[in-house]
Amino acid sequence: MIHASRLTKIYGDPENGLKAIDGLNLKIEQGQRVALLGRSGSGKSTLLNILAGLDRPTSGELIVAGKSLFELSPAEIAHYRMTSVGVVFQSFQLISHRTAAQNVELPLILAGVHAAQRKSRVDECLQRAAIDHRRDHKPTQLSGGEQQRVAIARAIVAKPPLLLADEPTGNLDTQTAEQVTRLMLDVVAENNATLVLITHDQELAKTCATRTLQMQDGQFISDTALPETGARSAGATV
Ligand SMILES: Nc1ncnc2c1ncn2[C@@H]1O[C@H](COP(=O)(O)OP(=O)(O)OP(=O)(O)O)[C@@H](O)[C@H]1O
Ligand SMILES: [Mg+2]
Repeated sequence: MIHASRLTKIYGDPENGLKAIDGLNLKIEQGQRVALLGRSGSGKSTLLNILAGLDRPTSGELIVAGKSLFELSPAEIAHYRMTSVGVVFQSFQLISHRTAAQNVELPLILAGVHAAQRKSRVDECLQRAAIDHRRDHKPTQLSGGEQQRVAIARAIVAKPPLLLADEPTGNLDTQTAEQVTRLMLDVVAENNATLVLITHDQELAKTCATRTLQMQDGQFISDTALPETGARSAGATV
């Protein structure tokens, strides 16, 4: 699903700039659930944004979902983002002038999905995220946990094969965090999707992931396989 080799991202001057990603090699299989750990500034979000097609690497090779991201045109990157990835950010990043339902519908509009089909998909995702009762509210009228549930509904509405999450529970209370984590894990399991989850929370990593990658200074310093446990299988309580 993901294959990176000698991947670098340098901010600023290519010679003397800041190497946020420093020669990474990485292989992630379809259906794997990876927790990305590391101290602040180690390059986690930079890597995630590159995988999301939101940022371009400086050099190296990167193949995601069969596409060489490095070589895609802006239009092809836009298509990749519509069809192949769902992204959940710590700060939600919902569109403020659109309602919850309109935010969730947007990826389907961009992907050219027919209106009738869009409605049933949006309804289903809002219900699964337990946010259906707030469907006509705008983001400023929603709590943090509610906004994050809308953001997750938006990320899964097009059933992407790759779900990327950057500290998705960082701003949530424990109960809401468990709820949104459960939702992400269920959807990932149903679609045999790949999950890359950034977290500072070791417990969350253990609960969600089948593998942990530890980053430091733009490099991986450990790569650990975790045993599959009942807590992580679909339908179980986190
Ligand atoms: N747009 C940018 N321009 C210049 N430097 C940047 C930019 N974005 C990130 N950096 C730098 O790249 C490095 C990696 O940043 P990144 O956001 O990937 O870290 P992180 O591991 O996600 O940290 P955190 O846990 O705090 O979110 C940091 O030193 C950061 O200052
Ligand atoms: Mg970050």
